[in-house]
Amino acid sequence: MLKGKRILITAGPTKEFIDPVRFISNASSGKMGYAIAEELYSKGAEVILITGPTNIRCNLPDTKVVHVTTALEMLKACRHYFGSVDIAIFTAAVADYRPLNRELSKIKKNDDTMVVELTKNPDIAFEFGKVKDPHQLSIGFALETDNIIEYGKGKMNKKKFDFIVLNTTNENGEGFGFDTNKISILFRDHAVKSFPLKSKKEVAKDIISELESQIKNIEVH
Ligand code: C5P
Repeated sequence: MLKGKRILITAGPTKEFIDPVRFISNASSGKMGYAIAEELYSKGAEVILITGPTNIRCNLPDTKVVHVTTALEMLKACRHYFGSVDIAIFTAAVADYRPLNRELSKIKKNDDTMVVELTKNPDIAFEFGKVKDPHQLSIGFALETDNIIEYGKGKMNKKKFDFIVLNTTNENGEGFGFDTNKISILFRDHAVKSFPLKSKKEVAKDIISELESQIKNIEVH
């Protein structure tokens, strides 16, 4: 069912530079996105992985891997593929803000306090939602510490996801950096399916199996 489908995946964090040696980023390891890429590849999909800086190497043959650093670079790389993919999966933890100015020289620590003015980064999933065709599917992720269902519904609507994968940072072993994750999936009809703590490889299988059900529904209707 996924064989031959062209699928864009964003993964990892982005880094937003303050000066040549300092940046703002987050603790995303990229493991979830890479696990999804592997699972899709094993199902015969054509994978395009747009990845921020991670320690993982993607060795999948015939897979397009685009390495980017910043959110603006990630958006530019994604835009190139938006029109030609069947499915887009947004696992990247894109930095919400970037420094308004990137200093060309290393900032000296002369003062006791320092203010860095930030400006909002583009929302890549939202940009895809704006141009998304009815035949295209998209999946988002949401990591929250509280009110996860309510925030999840808002994100799903705003970014036009077909479903959204929710995870919290409340329990040990789930979320950023870990090899395991505990997710729930929130669907358009607001149904929620919860899964136990599993390896990210197993979580990727669960997500892809939900994706396959969505494709089946579309093909039946
Ligand atoms: O709003 P929030 O950042 O929690 O949304 C998370 C979802 O949106 C994830 O799927 C993430 O990959 C995507 N996103 C994005 N570009 C951003 C921020 C989030 O694609 N600038």
